Amino acid sequence: MCGIVGHIGSMNSIQVVLQGLSKLEYRGYDSAGVSYIDHSGNLFNQKKEGKLVNLEKLLGKDLPQTNICIGHTRWATHGEVNDVNSHPHSFGSISLVHNGIIENANEIKKELREKGYEFKSQTDTESFLGLMIINMKEGLSFSDAVRASFKRVKGHSAFVVLCKETKEIIAVKRGAPLVCGMHETDSNVMVSSDPYALVGLVDKLYFPEDEVFCTLSGAQTNLITFAEFDGTPSKRYLSTKQNLSADASEKGDFEHFMLKEIHEQPGLIRALTQYYIGGDGEASLEDVSSIKPERLILSACGTAAYAAYCARDIIENENRIPCVVELGSEFRYRDPILSKGDVALFISQSGETADTLASQGLCKQKGIKTVSIVNVMGSTLYRDCDHNLLIRAGVEIGVASTKAFTQQVLTSKLLSFTLKGHLKNAQERKALIDRFDLLASRIESLLQNQDVIKKIAEEIYNYKGYFYTGRGTYYPIALEGALKLKEIAYVHAEGYAAGELKHGPIALIDENMVNIAIIGPELHEKVLSNAEEIKSRKGIIVALADVNDEEAKGMCRYHVPLKFDGLGDLSPIYVNVANQLLAYYMAKFKGTDIDKPRNLAKSVTVE
Ligand code: AGP
Repeated sequence: MCGIVGHIGSMNSIQVVLQGLSKLEYRGYDSAGVSYIDHSGNLFNQKKEGKLVNLEKLLGKDLPQTNICIGHTRWATHGEVNDVNSHPHSFGSISLVHNGIIENANEIKKELREKGYEFKSQTDTESFLGLMIINMKEGLSFSDAVRASFKRVKGHSAFVVLCKETKEIIAVKRGAPLVCGMHETDSNVMVSSDPYALVGLVDKLYFPEDEVFCTLSGAQTNLITFAEFDGTPSKRYLSTKQNLSADASEKGDFEHFMLKEIHEQPGLIRALTQYYIGGDGEASLEDVSSIKPERLILSACGTAAYAAYCARDIIENENRIPCVVELGSEFRYRDPILSKGDVALFISQSGETADTLASQGLCKQKGIKTVSIVNVMGSTLYRDCDHNLLIRAGVEIGVASTKAFTQQVLTSKLLSFTLKGHLKNAQERKALIDRFDLLASRIESLLQNQDVIKKIAEEIYNYKGYFYTGRGTYYPIALEGALKLKEIAYVHAEGYAAGELKHGPIALIDENMVNIAIIGPELHEKVLSNAEEIKSRKGIIVALADVNDEEAKGMCRYHVPLKFDGLGDLSPIYVNVANQLLAYYMAKFKGTDIDKPRNLAKSVTVE
């Protein structure tokens, strides 16, 4: 997903935009660029392949003086990674940046070529620029040209367009994230694909709905206006206070955001209970207590999908409500059988994952009630669902999700607790708060003793391949553990139900393969015998097992000592933190870019 930032105001706009882009680089970092109008009214476009630092070198230390600028960090979808395909794309008095995909770009390009427009890049984005240029050549004003051009493009996109003549920025989106911001005292106005880029710069946020045209101008009045396709004023936007703190963008004493975010988990767990049990969030639980699902359909992608599997286990075990997990990228293509008694639950950190949004759209279209478990208030998923439960994870910068997974599963536990009818039961409330607190304490202990995990990582980070095995409620943790390692260490890892290994995959086991075996209290004897099957074939076993589990300790080469007692259905979250640390340290020893792993983006807003 690309990062977009635009600014008009009294501060140096290039500085503000670069500061914003630096906070979005985790979303996409194939190239970066800025367009700005200097004090003489000239339009400049500077862009460079590679990370933001390459653009900063191009711009030099003495930044040009300007009060209007747009910028972009790219995660390539169309066109290879190079300077020409970098954004912004500019021609004449217009410059623009784009996040998303123009599905009918080829049809538009053909038409524009016939009208004499010569394309410079391989991107789909340039087809929008061509439409703008041709529309303005045919006499349309800047704002009318934006509206006419946007009407032509199909697919999920957000565009931010700068005009030299009017010194305005116009932004619009369909199915992609966009947020405007204003600093009410010093009249700085901004636009971005993520509220996080605006942290510390604005104090009010505006989340426009699809096809609302947001015009940012430097005029003292009407700093930000919202319009419909016909140019009439629009009220289709959600306005909130900016509640993200500036320190979220700093690593503090940690070498990586991922490690910082792993360490934030105990505090976030305790804060989540305070928010939902007896705090401001209790109203949201009361709101969802009204849903009476005959069946719950959970849909999500990647790490959020594994959180959905954990949520399924928790909700089914506690409520005996049938739950089914549907991968966001598959669900809508299965022509799923949906019934009026179904309720659909969507889990997402960003609230902008295209496949998850498409699943939600299908359910909504079929009249199914939709609920989100989401991190970003004001995100598309948040605004499209009937009910929302915020996971309160704060901004997650590390592309590999850690704290968001924990908060997603715990929020699903709070949902399950509510569906069970415990919300008003003082004894049950206290028991839940105590168990969340115990989980936080156990994770704190794990963090304090993480050198054990670091040492194991140093021993095993160079093997041929890795299996993560688990059974029952630990099976999703095996899947998530393998994903974490793949994402940041770039090694082949596979999560497997431990009982399935003997049905084929065990052929891969030899002295070059490492098996991270989750040996918890659940199905303990069976998991042990699965591990024996691996050991007898010389597989190297890292046991995530209880500190007092002598049987597990006796048959593994490495042991991560855990304490399962008292955690109940929260223990998979605890085990997962051990896997987060294992993946982190193995990646560290391999020397990969842990916070911005190759090929990945923080939020996948394209299908
Ligand atoms: C997590 O480590 C990954 N970066 C990825 O699988 C992510 O969980 C997935 O893309 C879903 O994102 P979302 O939670 O923002 O919807």
